[in-house]
Parts: sequence; C-alpha cells; structure tokens
Amino acid sequence: AHQAPDILSPDFEANPYPAYRLMRATSPLLWHEATKSYVISRYEDVERVFKDKNGEFTTENYDWQIEPVHGRTILQLSGREHAVRRALVAPAFRGSDLREKFLPVIERNSRELIDGFRATGSVDLVTDYASRFPVNVIADMLGLATSDYDRFHGWYTTVIAFLGNLSGDPEVTRAGERTRVEFAAYMLPIIQERRKNPGDDLLSTLCTAEIDGVRMSDEDIKAFCSLLLAAGGETTDKAIASIFANLLLHPEQLEAVRADRTLIPRAFAETLRYTPPVHMIMRQAATDVELSGGTVPAGATVTCLIGAANRDENRYRDPDSFDIFRTDLTTTTAFSAAADHLAFALGRHFCVGALLAKAEVEIGVGHLLDAMPGLRVADGFDPVEHGVFTRGPQTLPLRFTPVPP
Ligand code: HEM
Repeated sequence: AHQAPDILSPDFEANPYPAYRLMRATSPLLWHEATKSYVISRYEDVERVFKDKNGEFTTENYDWQIEPVHGRTILQLSGREHAVRRALVAPAFRGSDLREKFLPVIERNSRELIDGFRATGSVDLVTDYASRFPVNVIADMLGLATSDYDRFHGWYTTVIAFLGNLSGDPEVTRAGERTRVEFAAYMLPIIQERRKNPGDDLLSTLCTAEIDGVRMSDEDIKAFCSLLLAAGGETTDKAIASIFANLLLHPEQLEAVRADRTLIPRAFAETLRYTPPVHMIMRQAATDVELSGGTVPAGATVTCLIGAANRDENRYRDPDSFDIFRTDLTTTTAFSAAADHLAFALGRHFCVGALLAKAEVEIGVGHLLDAMPGLRVADGFDPVEHGVFTRGPQTLPLRFTPVPP
C-alpha cells in the first residue's frame, strides 16, 4: 500500500473531498502511519467491511478511543457478546416504541428550544438548537430531571471534545476522564433507583431488559447512556446543522422543501450521503483480507472513510453535487440493512438509533421551517465543516421574520 495523505492534518480537515477523490481513483488501500491503519475509500470496500459477511472484522480497536471516556460499550463488543447486548438494547429503539412513547418527547423538546428564539428573528442554529435538541431528547427519554439537562449538555460538550481531540491536548483529555467519573457518580444511583421503581422511560427499559437470563449490569447501562451522548447526540446535532447548511447553500432546493414538506426525508438522506456526520470508522482485521488494491494483514486496523465512499463516482452519478432529487438514492429503504448510503454503517453495528435520528431530524426541520418564515443567512454565515472523525458546521447564524408567541 502507498503512504496516505495525512488524514489528520489541518489541510485535510479544511477540505477532505479532493483527497478522497484521489484516494478512490489511485490508491484505494493506503497505509496511514499516525493511526497505524489501512485507509479505504471506495464504496464497495467500505460496504464489504461493514457488512462483514464472513466475520473477518472486529471493533476491538475502539478501546483506545472510547474506553477512557465511556467505559466498555456495545461498540467495542464483537461476536456473540455483541449480539446479546444488541438484542437487549435494540427493542427500545424500534418503530413501535418510537411512535408510542418517544414522538411526543421529540415534539416537546423541539418546540421548547424554538420557543426560546422564535420571537427574536435571529438564531445560531447550532448553539441554540442543533447542539441541544438531541441531547435533551436523550435525557428526556431516559427520564432524567429537566433541571439536570444543562449538566447533561456540559458532559456532552466535554465528551465530544475528548473524542475529537486529535492534537492530544492534555486539558481536554483530563476533562473527558473527569466526565467519565462524574457521569458514573450521577447515573449509577439513578440506575439503582430505577431498578427498584421502574417506570415507562428508556432507562427502566434498559434496567429490565433480559434475554436468556442475561441482563445488563449497572456499569453496562451507564456506559450505554454515556455512549448515547456521542452516538445519539453529536451525530444528530451535526446532521441538523448540515441539512440546513446544504439547503441554504442551494436556495432553490430550500424553496422546494419549504413548499413541499414531504421532501424533508429526501433532503435528510442526501445530506447523510453528501456530508455524513461520521466520516471515519475503524475495524480490526481478524484474518488476512483482500480489498481493492491489496491485502490487509490479520491484526491490522482498517479506517473506513464513509465520507469518501458516499461520493464514489462508481456508485453515484455526479457525486460531488448536493441534489435532493437524485434518483440513485432512495429514502424508503434507508433504514434497513439495504440502506443506499453508508452514513449509518451497515451490518452488525448498523446504527441502532437510525429511526430515532430520522424522526428527530424530520420533525425538527419541519418545526424550524414553520417557525422561521423568511429564513436567510446572517452576517458571519460561513458553514465550514469542522472535524475529522465527525464533521459538521460549528456555527450557523440565521435571520428570519419573527413570529409573535
Ligand atoms: C452506531 C451513525 C444517530 C445510537 C452508529 C454507527 C454509525 C452511526 C456510522 C456505526 C458505528 C460503527 O460501526 O463503528 C449515526 C448517525 C446518526 C446517528 C449519522 C444521526 C444522523 C443515533 C442516535 C442514536 C444512536 C439518535 C441513539 C440515541 C447508536 C448506537 C450505535 C450506533 C448505540 C452502536 C450500535 C452497535 O454497536 O451495535 N451510528 N448515528 N445513533 N448508533 Fe448511531
């Protein structure tokens, strides 16, 4: 394999897409020294690794990234251990539970945030809405006290700073490790209390879930809740920011969505393809594996570039243009294993919260469009994406015609 462009460098962060194109075309299997990993960028290769039909990959190499801040989560598990954990948590995120229990939670939390700014005519959509909404939804689903939402959001901020700390800033590392301790001190007593007095919330469901006599320990549940901050919070935050950035940069498509709200699912699917919240996912090869461009040796780490695969010219027509009307991306199957973009991964670790994310983004975007007539960009609008493992705009200043309460 050739030497990769430095996928952790500032130039790459500023705009990875030209490097992605070059990698797909000339070096689909690249060695990257800093991450000690083989980097893959073609749709067919990333899809193959995610689907992992022959059981050739594990997720062990998440440990160094995730363990210090979350503990041992479902993401690090493989094989039978993963299958059991997955079966314990997945029912809580099924369509039926979502409709019956969580749609009102999503609606309520979205409206509360919008009520905070709708009379002012201006908003930073990331700070005031996108970074708060999915985190509040998770806290509400878990049945936590509203007065704790700000603390929960504080942990969210330190967790995502920890996970994105590529330069290894020791202060950010310490804050992340502190969060793990604080989060445990907060959650464990609540988990014990819910075991005694279960209610109708997600935390109670996790406490009582049982398969063949197996239950999750308090530590397992705490780690899962902690993972939800990043897995369910940061991703959805970035998806909402990116859908608005993409639509505002393509005003004719924004107008189309505004005029016909049934286009929101298309705008969401195309945003996940074009600017996915998660750009890089790692796996470990359990045996030698043949991919385009060569062999990945047993024991090696593979970095899967979702952002590159989602723009593969062998998979999508005109892949570098944002087009909610494209015909090579359907929205109907987007939440089965046959999803036709890779933003939620595929296979065993396919995003367990995909339906929840879809509901949050589609409901949230609808509310926001209703609440912001005359939507336009404000001074300072420059929706550059930040981040390498995850990417999205960090600020989106907007103006609109205020609606009196
Ligand atoms: C897994 C993306 C929203 C919970 C994943 C994975 C991706 C992903 C790429 C696979 C990770 C891997 O294979 O290594 C996204 C995106 C979202 C989103 C783009 C929003 C647009 C959510 C939400 C939740 C959630 C709302 C729950 C509240 C999880 C969990 C896993 C996961 C628990 C681990 C599943 C497993 O290991 O079996 N997600 N996610 N995600 N996601 Fe999401």
